[in-house]
Amino acid sequence: MATFEATAETAAKNLESGRTLRELSDLVTPMAIRVAITLRIAQKIDVGRLTAEVLAADTGTDADVLERILLHLVTVGVLTRNERGEFGLTRIGEDMLVESGKAANPPWLDLNTVAGRAELTFTRLLDVARTGKVAYSAQYGTSFWDDLTRDTSSGTAFDLVMARGMERRIHEIAKAYDWGSLGTVVDVGGGNGTLLAGLLHAHPGLRGTVLDRHAEPALRTFKDAGLSERATAISGSFLKPLPPGAGGYILSRIQSDWNDADVRTILGHCRKAAEPQGKIIIIDEFATEEGVRCNSEDDLRMLVYYGGKERTMEQVRALATDVGLSVESLRAAADWTIMELVPTEL
Ligand SMILES: C[S@@+](CC[C@H](N)C(=O)[O-])C[C@H]1O[C@@H](n2cnc3c(N)ncnc32)[C@H](O)[C@@H]1O
Repeated sequence: MATFEATAETAAKNLESGRTLRELSDLVTPMAIRVAITLRIAQKIDVGRLTAEVLAADTGTDADVLERILLHLVTVGVLTRNERGEFGLTRIGEDMLVESGKAANPPWLDLNTVAGRAELTFTRLLDVARTGKVAYSAQYGTSFWDDLTRDTSSGTAFDLVMARGMERRIHEIAKAYDWGSLGTVVDVGGGNGTLLAGLLHAHPGLRGTVLDRHAEPALRTFKDAGLSERATAISGSFLKPLPPGAGGYILSRIQSDWNDADVRTILGHCRKAAEPQGKIIIIDEFATEEGVRCNSEDDLRMLVYYGGKERTMEQVRALATDVGLSVESLRAAADWTIMELVPTEL
């Protein structure tokens, strides 16, 4: 019921603001903004490079084409232009300074980054519906994850975004479960080690390992946090067998990046490594039980970037059951859920 009300509210907002279907489906403005961000136009305006000629010379672009792009940004209220042909930033235009990396933000809207490239694959959405192929791999001939490995600055930016989301919740996660009782954990796909470092700080008896595509970012985190005695990291893939014998195998924000078959593979590897006593612990924000995506935009991103999906708790439970895991407990941690799984007889 709440779902229908929310939908009606969004529809009413669109009506009130006069947004048309054309505007809702516009590709012109998003691309013009992304081009301006990629070319660092806001930074140049900020230091007094103001006309299309000067900006084009600075950016190696055609002055006429650049001017037409920037004039569109004037039309939509991102830039201003005076009678001398000088461009300026509106309040919203100033956000381009942040989005293109002047502040600590990773440059998500920069077309040269992996995230920027990933958004462009939405132009293949119809293809995805018809063929089920992962748009990112179809477009670039490499997976999102392999591209993050290739482009280390995009990789670091991605880790940072993940780490920020984790830092906001780590206190709640650390106290919501008796992590210390596990003795040792493997944080499977643990990124730069922010979660494991937080758990080790809160549970002095715990030791752990991050397994991710690259060990270096997590090793650096542990060294900086003075945790190298109790934490380590290894490079590897969770699509292959995992190091056995830990008390817990953590999968934090992993399942939604993968299709059902891959999630079964990953959970199956965790189960095998955890046998006979270990636990598998999923930390995630699940889609709501009404069957409506908690975030439909992210759900479609999961689809085109990696062939993944936002799943309800029941959908994850069903995949776990398929590989012989049952839910032992569910705990809330901030707006996320900790799902504890244990091996059952297959
Ligand atoms: C959405 S991030 C989650 C990171 C971290 N667990 C967290 O919650 O902040 C997904 C992680 O999976 C890692 N990853 C992707 N493919 C992998 C693979 N085949 N094997 C191991 N890790 C992988 C990525 O490098 C990334 O760190």
